[in-house]
Amino acid sequence: MEVEGVPLLIHTSEKWGRIWEFQARPDDVLICTYPRSGTTWTQEIVDMIRHEGDLQKCARAPITQRVPFIELSAPIFTHVSGLEAAEAMPSPRTLKTHLPVQLLPPSFWEQNCKIIYVARNVKDNAVSYFHFHRMNQRMPEPGNWDQFLANFIAGKVTWGSWFDHVRDWWKAKDHHPILYLFYEDMKMDPAHTIQKIAQFLELELPEPVLNQIIQHTNFESMKANPMVNYTPFSHMDQTISPFIRKGIIGDWKEHFTVAQSEQLDVVIARELGGSNLMFRAQL
Ligand code: A3P
Repeated sequence: MEVEGVPLLIHTSEKWGRIWEFQARPDDVLICTYPRSGTTWTQEIVDMIRHEGDLQKCARAPITQRVPFIELSAPIFTHVSGLEAAEAMPSPRTLKTHLPVQLLPPSFWEQNCKIIYVARNVKDNAVSYFHFHRMNQRMPEPGNWDQFLANFIAGKVTWGSWFDHVRDWWKAKDHHPILYLFYEDMKMDPAHTIQKIAQFLELELPEPVLNQIIQHTNFESMKANPMVNYTPFSHMDQTISPFIRKGIIGDWKEHFTVAQSEQLDVVIARELGGSNLMFRAQL
């Protein structure tokens, strides 16, 4: 079902009024992404920074409870929904959303909350989103890769157009405290990204803590960690495709035909040409 022309999960659109009224608090930190661009990775990094690298504290609950997903208004992961978990959580809260700029509940702007945005190159993002549709029963049937890619480029997928999302959040950072990060930079230089996040949050990051976070949030550690790898959730069939799947830059080359890649390059030039937003799709 759509909200203002953006396809959203049925649970989200049914409770849209309540989500729109969500009450942000000034010390909330919001992690915002288009789906499959490194959300969970960033959630774990922020939770680790906020708990001074304490591994036990960061294993207190699955990431879905530690960093609630504000527009998830159905109890998919636990007996309470992300929305209810967020509402009930004591401050300081770290929250997650995939909403495009125009659908962000207005209280986040009013309270001037810090927002960490993560963007990923569109080709890898599309591939990862395709596999996520295949393994997650709560997502619509993706069809085959060709069909999915056509829908993705047209913005006819849940959370809408990738292009609008990354471009509109890029513009929003000019008038709001938004740290705009790229998955590719996180991958190439995790230490630098973690330091940037800590600086943005105005939190201390002693070197041993930084090293602990780098180690704990690398791909292999995250893949093996049941607190972040979504294995406890039965609506995801990880034998079809793991939630934490490959974690690389350039996997799109295994999926795109040359024609599909060239077609998407034309769309990228048209959609992002006017901005100074640049992505790296290979090493
Ligand atoms: P792939 O499907 O390309 O492997 P999200 O959390 O937004 O759903 O993003 C999921 C994507 O981030 C998946 O991409 C997943 O493997 C990747 N990812 C998760 N943790 C990662 C890490 N520590 N390092 C690199 N990539 C990671």
